[in-house]
Amino acid sequence: MDSFGRHINYLRISVTDRCNLRCQYCMPEDGVQNLGHGNILSLEDLARLARIGAQVGIRKVRLTGGEPLVRKNITGLIRCIADIPEIDDIALTTNGILFPAMAQDLKAAGLKRVNISMDTMKEERFAYITRRGGLNQVREAVFKALELDMHPVKINVVVIRGFNDDEIGDFARLAYDYPLHVRFIEYMPVGDLLFWNPDRMMSSQEILDRLKSDYELNPEKAVEGNGPARYYHIAGGAGSLGFISPMSHQFCSECNRIRLTADGKLRGCLYAKQEVDLKAALDRGAYDEELQELFLTAIKTKPAHHEMNSGWGQQNFRKMYQIGG
Ligand code: 5AD
Ligand code: SF4
Repeated sequence: MDSFGRHINYLRISVTDRCNLRCQYCMPEDGVQNLGHGNILSLEDLARLARIGAQVGIRKVRLTGGEPLVRKNITGLIRCIADIPEIDDIALTTNGILFPAMAQDLKAAGLKRVNISMDTMKEERFAYITRRGGLNQVREAVFKALELDMHPVKINVVVIRGFNDDEIGDFARLAYDYPLHVRFIEYMPVGDLLFWNPDRMMSSQEILDRLKSDYELNPEKAVEGNGPARYYHIAGGAGSLGFISPMSHQFCSECNRIRLTADGKLRGCLYAKQEVDLKAALDRGAYDEELQELFLTAIKTKPAHHEMNSGWGQQNFRKMYQIGG
């Protein structure tokens, strides 16, 4: 438990800061400074830290990036984490590009669930926002995940006014037709801030209002451990909709997560500067007990809430692909 009474049982692990896309809101086109191999945690260290996390109460692990599937032998890491008895849920957040080719192996290794990022269903827009393209692979990834029964298959849509807000209805339709969980995410001032501006942010309420004329949406009971989303079932539909509102509604009081960055820093909050350096401890040969203590320090110093609304354009801030989304 942290100092504000929250049960911390969810660890997000960023396994790499690299990515095979260059989303406008996340990374600059050029000059991305990636961590060198000596600066990122080895797969052995990652597996060990997941085990240490389990010893201090972690029950659920999500692998993120950058793009986690560009990390070599990620399947092996999933297998190791799946072997930790206390961990009952392993999930992955991916941009979907490499997923179709790897899906079977990931599932066999123990991957239970997947969140796939897909901000648009239009080819040219996808190429624009990702600066790379590959929408077909992402689409294929979605159907592959459904086929492999990785329920609930979640689609992450960052809603950006003037870019994809006219597709909100299309995404709702997708969740109506298929047993998918589409989550609309408020656009946050993190990442490559050159693309962010306050007008591009669209609140969950506004998105919901637009959908209400076409769909009957019934709020689902908040499920503990479901994190920051509010869920709605679509009457008559196969799937559901979620709204993630980091900007308009602070959900920090329910936050149950801590984050491990690819370079081995443990962070209580996406949007805070405090971090605990686990890599330094590992490099000097720390015993399990010391690592456990460091985990507890990160949990104890987890801030009460984020400060994202107190001004955007913060400098010295790590980017999303460096923290893990
Ligand atoms: N605002 C909201 N969501 C973001 N993501 C990345 N950057 C931002 C941002 N600035 C999303 C990705 C992915 C998830 C991990 O976070 O699109 O779906
Ligand atoms: Fe890669 Fe995700 Fe960032 Fe896009 S948002 S560049 S897919 S890490």
